[in-house]
Amino acid sequence: MKRFSQQPVVALTGAGISAESGVPTFRGDEGLWRDHNPQELATATAFHRDPELVWAWYAWRRELIAACRPNAAHKTLAAMERELEDFTLVTQNVDGLHQAAGSQRVLELHGNIWRLRCTRCDYRTEDHSVPLPNLPPCCPACDALLRPDVVWFGESLPRQVLDAAWRAVVDCQTMLVVGTSALVEPAASLPLLALRNKSRLVEINPSETPLSEHAHQVLRQPAGEALPRWWSAFKK
Ligand code: OAD
Repeated sequence: MKRFSQQPVVALTGAGISAESGVPTFRGDEGLWRDHNPQELATATAFHRDPELVWAWYAWRRELIAACRPNAAHKTLAAMERELEDFTLVTQNVDGLHQAAGSQRVLELHGNIWRLRCTRCDYRTEDHSVPLPNLPPCCPACDALLRPDVVWFGESLPRQVLDAAWRAVVDCQTMLVVGTSALVEPAASLPLLALRNKSRLVEINPSETPLSEHAHQVLRQPAGEALPRWWSAFKK
């Protein structure tokens, strides 16, 4: 029997893990912004049609997230990285709260709201200023529009990040799925791949998801309560 610290574990997180920090989820009641839902705004088409509107939404989210702090669930995942020999954290979140909690290796499937990149040239930057001085921001190298370095609906995920996530999932013995509605691909397929490879699947989510019926263990509680408890039990 392997010691707990030798078991390969993967955690996949979604917006729900940041809910207790005050970040609204996408599909929850607070997901709307000025009557727009995120699926309408987080697209290249919306950005090309109305960059001011899309940037106003991101500026609002940046401001909101800047005021949020990591919660007990983020901190537990940071502790897991420190204490497990083989731990991979995969997130759909762009808020940077995992890093703020101390996680050093985070596979960000959907990018990061604190990075900006040029829509024309290779310019990229990390910028935590809130508010941004100019909206929409322009590239200092070529003057084209900058966009948030996040993945929009209809766009491909960063190949290397996704490959690293697939590799970790194929080898894991325990897969934790925390705070995601498990509706958006390809992230939603990662737990199913883990299952196919005989991993144990643990879901932490106050609501039912399409994954719930497949999970070996379902904790119907907020992540900030359930995850620290689950981790203590796992270590025993
Ligand atoms: P969703 O908003 O779809 O789902 C959030 C999930 O978190 C729901 O299943 C809630 O029940 C759950 N939840 C709420 N509060 C929670 C808490 N305190 N603890 C644990 N779980 C809680 O967010 P995601 O699944 O992350 O993509 O959405 C996936 C992707 O769709 C996002 O990354 C984004 C979005 O549109 C892009 O922008 C590309």
